[in-house]
Amino acid sequence: MKTRPTVLVTRKLPDAVETRLEKDYLPCLNQDDHPYSIEELLLGSHQADALIITGQDSLDAEAIAQLPEQIKAIATFSVGYDHIDLEAAKKRDIYVINTPDVLTNATADVTWLLLLAAARRAYEGEQLVRQGKWSDPHPTQLLGTEVTGKRLGILGMGRIGRAVARRAKAFKMEVHYSNRHRLSPEQESGAIFHDDPEDLLRVSDFFSFHCPATPETEHFLNARRIELLPDGAIIVNAARGSLVVDEDLTAALRSRKIQAAGLDVFEGEPEINSAYQTLPNVFLLPHIGSATIETRTQMGFLLLDNLDAVFAGKQPPNSLT
Ligand code: DGY
Repeated sequence: MKTRPTVLVTRKLPDAVETRLEKDYLPCLNQDDHPYSIEELLLGSHQADALIITGQDSLDAEAIAQLPEQIKAIATFSVGYDHIDLEAAKKRDIYVINTPDVLTNATADVTWLLLLAAARRAYEGEQLVRQGKWSDPHPTQLLGTEVTGKRLGILGMGRIGRAVARRAKAFKMEVHYSNRHRLSPEQESGAIFHDDPEDLLRVSDFFSFHCPATPETEHFLNARRIELLPDGAIIVNAARGSLVVDEDLTAALRSRKIQAAGLDVFEGEPEINSAYQTLPNVFLLPHIGSATIETRTQMGFLLLDNLDAVFAGKQPPNSLT
């Protein structure tokens, strides 16, 4: 007799998360941790009561329509949910659960890694040392841009945007932001609000994305908007690659209208616009914003807390549907 719900898990999760899964559920784990095709995912879902997927597993309306009747929840191992059609899940009475809060600090830290690395030419410096070409130290070698005291523009002042802004205080930066709604003075904590994101661009020596990818924000940073930025601005993106028009950003990096960029996310990743790989003034990371053992474990536990609620007949606290 089946006593525990079955959960299909599309990728390997941190050990502590899989241990808890094995204690409380009947998990179908991905033994060799290969990426599932949509066909494989749908096939596996036939034995499952819930799914734990990742940001790489796209569940559009067509795929959701093919999920079997008994599926109660789709839990995504991500805070972003642009890969899931929420409306389609809602129509099927399937909970969609994500992982807000727990990855805020890790993602804010990576944002600062990108920002500092772009400003201080970390990629070029690393190459020089690693390739044994650091033979002639001189006063004008690898001059970067000072961060302290500059203006930081943040598009999207949710949890992660605010955590980035808090860290900016240590660098005595003037923080500007644009957001769907103006924050309370307490949450603003001195940051300057711009109703129009284009006004935000005009004052951003550093510009960092912290908004979700939606039809409204998709390809926000295009050639016309890049022109609004101060000359030599630095772009940081640890949110979603589709917020940027890659051809326009790479052209601006080549002309040095944009001095440098730090990018953790890319449209169509893991395939990326190959121009980024040839530009010395871009610091590239492979979407590791939340990749600390502590955060990834907490993300898994949060999903399991929510699944526990679902299977106890309660409303899961992080349901998006
Ligand atoms: C998130 O949690 O949304 C990260 O970007 C990983 O997809």
